[in-house]
Amino acid sequence: MITIKSDAEIARMRESGRITKEVLDLIGREIRAGFTTKDLDKLAYEYITSCGAYPSFLGYSGYPSSICASIDDVVVHGIPSEDIVIKEGQIVSIDVGVEFDGWQGDAARTFMIGEVSPEKKKLVKVTEECFFKAIENLRDGTPLGDIGYAVQSHAEANGFSVVRALVGHGIGREMHEDPTVPNYGKKGTGIRLKKGMAIAIEPMINAGVYQVDFMSDGWAVRTRDRKPSAHYENTVVITDNGVEVLTL
Ligand code: MF3
Ligand code: CO
Repeated sequence: MITIKSDAEIARMRESGRITKEVLDLIGREIRAGFTTKDLDKLAYEYITSCGAYPSFLGYSGYPSSICASIDDVVVHGIPSEDIVIKEGQIVSIDVGVEFDGWQGDAARTFMIGEVSPEKKKLVKVTEECFFKAIENLRDGTPLGDIGYAVQSHAEANGFSVVRALVGHGIGREMHEDPTVPNYGKKGTGIRLKKGMAIAIEPMINAGVYQVDFMSDGWAVRTRDRKPSAHYENTVVITDNGVEVLTL
């Protein structure tokens, strides 16, 4: 069931979105070679709880941490660990969810550590651009398929591929609500988005093949060819004449 948020509810989502963004800004300032992904997880937990909010991922289906930290060929859902030391040349995707006052925010960024290869640099840039292409013409009445079409055409035009096995989602009181929001698709297809719908748009773009493998820890997802992958996500709400991005 797709829920429509009132203006008052959107105002509350704005607050969880703001905290979500602030966590990513904080991690963006602090992340560096030599830190472990567990260090970043602690930073996120401390910040979120200091805001009187809760890290939504913690305990979600048994997930053990406040963030996902996914390095290079890990697409998403990398579990932070004190054994995973961040190194120069890596790209690190950080995904975080925040529940504040009963409402969810969900966003992700991919950070480059020091000098990274030209391929990784382009991958990170194109993945961000995919999100902005997706929201360019998004408004009340836009068919959902236009999002996937925009992401897929931009990724593939740049020689990259779109992960199919994982998708974006509606968001509100729950982190995952209807509808699912694929990063691939055909223009003009699917349900029409309506004012007051909130969705998490999250391109997951691979440098090589689109196929992924699910790791035996039950969470981490890797590219099948072990080439790098990037992730960029924001929570957005549909308005009359466009979208409002709640996590930027
Ligand atoms: N942020 C992810 C998503 O967009 C959810 C992470 S799964 C969790 O769907 F278990 F880590 F929460
Ligand atoms: Co999400």
